[in-house]
Amino acid sequence: MTLEALEEEIRACTNCPLCRTRKNAVPGTGNPHATLMLIGEAPGRQEDERGEPFVGRAGRLLSEILAEIGIGRDEVYITNVVKCRPPGNRTPRASEVRACMPYLRRQISLIGPRIMVLLGMVPAKTVLGMYGIRFTSMGEMVGKVFHVDDVILVPCYHPAAALYNPRLVDRIRETLRKVGELYQK
Ligand code: URA
Repeated sequence: MTLEALEEEIRACTNCPLCRTRKNAVPGTGNPHATLMLIGEAPGRQEDERGEPFVGRAGRLLSEILAEIGIGRDEVYITNVVKCRPPGNRTPRASEVRACMPYLRRQISLIGPRIMVLLGMVPAKTVLGMYGIRFTSMGEMVGKVFHVDDVILVPCYHPAAALYNPRLVDRIRETLRKVGELYQK
């Protein structure tokens, strides 16, 4: 199975009710051999329209901060825990996360990233959990670096949160700078 074939499978998915309200499923974009993977929560309105992750305001902020530390979007892989937009951008339900998790697992195993940045609480909880680490709170876990087997997991505030609370921009910058250092190693 190639990453492309998996992305096609995701585009046609009907495993949960979000398939009935989405315009486009959003499998993920970027380098299929990326060593750095960024994982968000779920697509928003613009992502749903374009079928690409992080292309709205939060995505532009993320791209800007990545560019500041010398990382281009095309060299990383960007995806979400849930591949279809929840109506009104509500938080995805646990059942939707469960239905979608096999896709994320398969993406991780096909791409084989060395570092994963978990953007917000849903990916932090989900992905840390996949690696046997119990999520406590964003306040406590953000910016910490978790080494599990041969991967590095880094919870980070979600760029959408920084649109409402500009103080978080610097926290995201700080976390992604740390990620940049690990990435260049
Ligand atoms: N927020 C996310 O979590 N993912 C996107 O793709 C866009 C906004």
